[in-house]
Amino acid sequence: MRTMSQLNLAVEIGGLKLRNPLMNAAGILGLSANLLKRVYEGGAGGVVTKSIGLHPRRGHSNPTLVVVEGGVLNSMGLPNPGATYFANEVKKLKGMGIPVIASIFGSSREEFVEVARILAEGGADALELNYSCPTVGGERCLLDADPENIERVTSAVKDAVDLPIFVKLSPNVGDILECAWASERGGADAITAVNTLKGLAIDVELRRPILSNIVGGLSGPALKPVALRCVWEITEEVEIPVIGCGGISTWRDAVEFLLCGANAVQIGTAIMYRGLEVFGEILEGVKGYLEGNGFRDVNEIVGLAHKA
Ligand SMILES: Cc1cc2nc3c(=O)[nH]c(=O)nc-3n(C[C@H](O)[C@H](O)[C@H](O)COP(=O)(O)O)c2cc1C
Repeated sequence: MRTMSQLNLAVEIGGLKLRNPLMNAAGILGLSANLLKRVYEGGAGGVVTKSIGLHPRRGHSNPTLVVVEGGVLNSMGLPNPGATYFANEVKKLKGMGIPVIASIFGSSREEFVEVARILAEGGADALELNYSCPTVGGERCLLDADPENIERVTSAVKDAVDLPIFVKLSPNVGDILECAWASERGGADAITAVNTLKGLAIDVELRRPILSNIVGGLSGPALKPVALRCVWEITEEVEIPVIGCGGISTWRDAVEFLLCGANAVQIGTAIMYRGLEVFGEILEGVKGYLEGNGFRDVNEIVGLAHKA
């Protein structure tokens, strides 16, 4: 009988080597080196920072999070301490040998490039470009669903830093494939699919929207079928690796994304409900699935659902 140690769980995503395909999703426990260290110790193969912009930012006023059927709606508004401060947190993680994917955003192509340079100097192993967070209006709404801009910004960042570049896409678009192709044309090394889905919640007593920002992003189990559909559409057409994200809380969810074509997965909302144990539990479950079905390598199951 084969033992666990003969199983390969390591993956390579656009040049970034990870000991296993699990990461936290950007924005959940990603605001300090200490928290991200705990994510890694909990079993993740790599860690993703909160989205970092050029300047410190307070985000929206409360309420910014509400529990809804099948998940949560958040409108955090990208609170973050700014790139220069966060580059030091990245340095600390590098000192511990932890693979760090720095999630970044900017209000222009130049700002994206500047943030990318600062975090690359801090030692990030890869960058994830957040074009899709629906919680900040005006500033970046041009990028979100605009393939031309996605291509331009991606290519500017790719030219500026010598790191794997992941593009995180929004499900709030007519055709996610157009955005995926644009990312690929811009030189992205991988695509993360997806960010949250726009939603709204109403307080019947106060007779108004619950979130201060009115609109928020839906995450958690209700997002999973949408995310799987996006991963499917992208992996049918696009060559670069895909990181699946949206509603993963059990090993079965993770395996569904791998079978659907994702090379790795990110876990967000489930950490809020289940704590950091979720990484170890999902990893054990994935190992059990591979072993029980006679696979030797997690990469063997990537995309199998397309071939069925
Ligand atoms: C509280 C909260 C904060 C988030 N902050 C970010 C962020 O800073 N950058 C980003 O790209 N996505 C952010 N997201 C989106 C998640 O990274 C992820 O794409 C989404 O939640 C779907 O995954 P999940 O269902 O596993 O949570 C945030 C989500 C939540 C719930």
